[in-house]
Amino acid sequence: MNIIFATHNQHKTEEVRQIAGNKFTILNLHDIGCRDDIPETADTLQGNALQKAQYVVDKFGIDCFADDTGLEIEALNGAPGVYSARYAGAACNFQDNLEKVLREMEGVENRRACFKTVIALILNGKQHFFEGRIDGIITAAPRGTNGFGYDPIFQPDGYEKTFAQMTDDEKNKISHRGIATEKLMALMTNI
Ligand code: IMP
Repeated sequence: MNIIFATHNQHKTEEVRQIAGNKFTILNLHDIGCRDDIPETADTLQGNALQKAQYVVDKFGIDCFADDTGLEIEALNGAPGVYSARYAGAACNFQDNLEKVLREMEGVENRRACFKTVIALILNGKQHFFEGRIDGIITAAPRGTNGFGYDPIFQPDGYEKTFAQMTDDEKNKISHRGIATEKLMALMTNI
């Protein structure tokens, strides 16, 4: 069975594909020929996830799901949060965002943070939401080269490694997106 994941992000696609295993074929926006830059203008993760999924349903008339993720840092009052993608400005990349967080966290003692993901699924016109969260700390410097985004500076509780020092499999088993995706797959398996 094919499921459309409304994302251009190849890292996210691979993570979700690994979790889905051979039960489902996950197709992303590239796979369905959609090059559009889908707006993310809501002020919540749930709102953005739904906005992305609804865009694809409206334009292509196919069921799909989308995710939105935020890194919430206690000492920064929950920032970058829902603005994680463009934290260092509209034209920024992953490295700019990560460096901005490290600069703001310089000398800060409380390094508690969490990743939250919300997945919105639109299936036969009905909306479903799935959430995942993982707690940890922001490291003093980047470590590791796997993953993407803020992975090199996020160390989950109970681990000595950052997400970027883990294999995809290790990250998927405990991550925000892994948890939310498992919930999505549980529903898809039971329909
Ligand atoms: P998005 O809007 O869901 O694509 O996520 C916002 C931003 O959060 C992305 O641009 C990444 O920088 C970051 N992000 C999302 N998921 C992850 C992850 O699993 N690890 C590290 N950073 C992530």
